[in-house]
Amino acid sequence: MKRVHNFSAGPAVLPLSVLEKAQEEFSNYRNKGASIIEMSHRGPEYTEIHTQAEMRLKQITGADDDWEVLFLQGGASMQFLQVAVNFLNEERTADYIDTGSWSSKAIKEAKMFGGVNVAFSGKEEQYTRLPDQIELAYSDAPEYVHITSNNTIFGTQFAKEPDAPAPLVCDASSDFLSRPLDLAKYGLIYAGAQKNLGPSGVTVVMVRKSFMERQRVEPIPTILNYKTHIGKLFHTPPVFAVYMVNYVLEWILEKGGLDYFQAFNADKATLLYEELDRDDFYRGTVEKGSRSAMNVTFRIHDEELESTFLKEAAQQDLVALKGHRSVGGIRASIYNACPRESVEALVSFMKDFRAARG
Ligand SMILES: Cc1ncc(COP(=O)(O)O)c(C=O)c1O
Repeated sequence: MKRVHNFSAGPAVLPLSVLEKAQEEFSNYRNKGASIIEMSHRGPEYTEIHTQAEMRLKQITGADDDWEVLFLQGGASMQFLQVAVNFLNEERTADYIDTGSWSSKAIKEAKMFGGVNVAFSGKEEQYTRLPDQIELAYSDAPEYVHITSNNTIFGTQFAKEPDAPAPLVCDASSDFLSRPLDLAKYGLIYAGAQKNLGPSGVTVVMVRKSFMERQRVEPIPTILNYKTHIGKLFHTPPVFAVYMVNYVLEWILEKGGLDYFQAFNADKATLLYEELDRDDFYRGTVEKGSRSAMNVTFRIHDEELESTFLKEAAQQDLVALKGHRSVGGIRASIYNACPRESVEALVSFMKDFRAARG
């Protein structure tokens, strides 16, 4: 069977064992004569999957009973406004750390619902670095502080959560479950599943009950109100996506959880960054201290060589390496399910390319 070395930023590579398990039982789930996507979402089969996925997420992240896990729709993009509509109003302010296109989009949506203080913006420096703690200009009493833990397009990632005067609300779409989290710092974490967790179509939201107490009192449209989804299925969930996420969570647990993935991902990232830093042929696009272990972004000294690089890489089954259309260049996305062999193959191709063109 053909499997390429897939460096897609998302939807991204998933564990082969998970794909095979889904394939094996797809048309006849647990001998019921129907697939899971043909059964009621309130039946015992799906209820078990949904509950198990919630429990596994809590187990993997170490979340206690103060945390609720929700599987929502609308992507991380919906969370940009859903967070704000639940926690902001004209009298309230939230602080946002602007570290890239996704943070900017979150800020734009939040401004429609309440006050926004941009505590730091990396825009003038083309988002090539993340702020030091000392640079964060927080407002007096923010409801929350919004961060994007990993910036998929620019290739930066917070080495650790910043200190903040309020609970963090985090867009963790592109590094969720890639390393341990200091949960005590967070009020809410959201992540579109299509990078580290499963197929697109479901957004995982983890929210603390104690953070929900800060919810605004003005009416909130029913489907956007987090409380609508806590402890019950308000409407039909994205059944297939949650089913796949549940198997990816099982795989994460079997591998050894977040400590395992932190070490595994750091090792892969180091392999790539060492190759970038070897000489001036390749050039990483962000400051070293801000580098992402998930999305490794770089250029070639002669940018005209980049299209040849991408073409020749694809001929060797190294695919989806083109940088985001807004920034260009090259980007290797190396999430949890990206095998070390894929990174080794890329590094080996990079060496050959340099030798032929350097
Ligand atoms: C960090 C981050 N936030 C938000 C999004 C948008 O996610 P969605 O397409 O699920 O709305 C993406 C998509 O790539 C992302 O990388």
